[in-house]
Amino acid sequence: MDLQTLKTPCLVLDVSRVKRNAERMSRRVLASGARLRPHVKTHKCVEVARLQTAGHSGALTVSTLAEARAFAAHGLTDLTYAVPIEPGKFKEAIELSKQCMGLALITDDPGIPAQLNDAARQAGVSLDVFLKVDCGYHRCGVEPHTNGALEIPRRIAAASNLRFAGILTHAGHSYHCRSGEELLAVARRERDMMIEFAAELRASGIEALTISIGSTPTITAIDHLDGIDEVRPGNYIFFDAFQATLGSCGFEDCAAHDALRRDASRPEPASGDH
Ligand SMILES: Cc1ncc(COP(=O)(O)O)c(C=O)c1O
Repeated sequence: MDLQTLKTPCLVLDVSRVKRNAERMSRRVLASGARLRPHVKTHKCVEVARLQTAGHSGALTVSTLAEARAFAAHGLTDLTYAVPIEPGKFKEAIELSKQCMGLALITDDPGIPAQLNDAARQAGVSLDVFLKVDCGYHRCGVEPHTNGALEIPRRIAAASNLRFAGILTHAGHSYHCRSGEELLAVARRERDMMIEFAAELRASGIEALTISIGSTPTITAIDHLDGIDEVRPGNYIFFDAFQATLGSCGFEDCAAHDALRRDASRPEPASGDH
């Protein structure tokens, strides 16, 4: 392909790197015993999602309902919309859930279960809802050991048309780490606090069916995933210079960064595991 004649703007990917990144993460997650539900906001591309989920169930994480609709239209219908649902989006989410094998929603708002349940009941559907937990990013989510942390799952579980799907967190603050040790500590905290919180819920009579965690830096750094059901890394499929600086990958793994400048005479580096 002649890169000079491509119509811009366009995304130029090194597909062999994309495949290598997909395979490494796939192997890592399969070996861990957890399920892979990659986040697709990085690429929003059905073909890339199929590469990411080869050998897995095909489950995906999305960051908008528009993404959910686009993937569902191509048969990828096991979806988690991992941004807290708000009433303005109930109608769209409920309509979409009718076309999906599963469309899980998340909340950290004690007012949402009753309102969402009313909407679901009126539409004659049942919805899976996760509790969003804050593991240190402080963007959203409930803190374990607070009243809301038990009350929201209780309300979801008691609602006629909702099912308490489990607990979900995202260690976005892993991007602020400045050393491998710091990153490993954040990754372990993301994992361990969720396992402890699930045990606390169980002790109070609430079963969290799925414990879902993950970001690219934490899933790349973590030593084991025992006790975790599902992971949701996303950025790893292309990686970038920031991830390389963080230690999540090498610069030679970045699939979308220097495609136009790469010296064709330079050999591809040997693949090693991250
Ligand atoms: C809720 C949630 N899960 C998973 C991810 C994937 O994390 P990463 O982009 O580090 O792979 C994100 C990314 O923003 C997210 O917001």
